[in-house]
Amino acid sequence: MSMVTDAKALRSAFSRFVTGVTVVTTRGVDGAPVGFTANSFTSVSLDPPLVLVCPGNHLSTFEVFRNASRFGISVLAEGQQHVSNLFASRREDRFSTCDWQPHATGVPLISGRAAGFVCDRFHALDAGDHAVLIGQVIDFDDACLPGLGYGPNGYFEQTQEREAQAPPVQSTRASVLLDDGRHLYLTADQDLPTASVPAGTSPLRALTARLEAAKIRFNLNVVYAIYDEGPHARRIVFRGQTKGPQPGLSKIPTQNLPELSIRDEALKALLTRFAQEHSTQNFGFYIGDAYDGDVLPASER
Ligand SMILES: Cc1cc2nc3c(=O)[nH]c(=O)nc-3n(C[C@H](O)[C@H](O)[C@H](O)COP(=O)(O)O)c2cc1C
Repeated sequence: MSMVTDAKALRSAFSRFVTGVTVVTTRGVDGAPVGFTANSFTSVSLDPPLVLVCPGNHLSTFEVFRNASRFGISVLAEGQQHVSNLFASRREDRFSTCDWQPHATGVPLISGRAAGFVCDRFHALDAGDHAVLIGQVIDFDDACLPGLGYGPNGYFEQTQEREAQAPPVQSTRASVLLDDGRHLYLTADQDLPTASVPAGTSPLRALTARLEAAKIRFNLNVVYAIYDEGPHARRIVFRGQTKGPQPGLSKIPTQNLPELSIRDEALKALLTRFAQEHSTQNFGFYIGDAYDGDVLPASER
């Protein structure tokens, strides 16, 4: 155990108890709004509804809060770090640089809060260098927003942490090189007929459904390439046979494919390889990403 006289170590140990962040507000004797950032907020009782907060005697407004007959507590929402910093700063103009509204009782409340409480003074006692201010809740609101968190490393947002831990969404597209022996069939924007593949669906089935819906006649056979188009995006390209004109597709002579001006570099490389292999009818299978990969023999000969 550490010596309790080591204030720095004690403060650090206290900070392991992660909290939300609030702004505690009231009106000074002149009626001007006053407020400070506090993470010492605690719910105390449901019946009667009681909460507490601990203003420190270092506060410029300590006496105002120590004696306040009514005060407000705004629980800050994720994204309101700037409001927390504002009300923890030495700035005098706190209320002119943030959005707030007076409650019907006149108590100021911070706009965009996750929840708000308006309290009548229930009890106040001095406890070392802080006071414990217990309030009876007379009105409250709840915006059901995630609250801003505060811990040993400063502010944190649960939503961000959850997103960081969530597995990345993998999106898959399935496409086809539709070939009639001498031509390849491309869409109007010079791409392969393509279907996006919903999670848990077979790429072949998704592509078949897309081609059938477009009334394109085809016969899908082998996989020609699988490559990553980005960190979480994959494209699977099949080869397929077709005959005659196909609705919505234009017919490009296979040997002309390398000359097409196609911006997608990976698709351009794929079409160039297809044209070369088509001339010898010796097709490979590409696996890699949009920039680098390997061409494997499609079958043992
Ligand atoms: C996250 C956070 C939590 C805080 N919690 C409290 C608290 O519970 N009680 C307190 O007296 N001061 C707390 N403070 C410090 C006051 O907000 C800060 O000292 C404020 O500037 C005091 O207002 P003043 O400038 O009017 O003295 C906290 C500061 C931060 C950043």
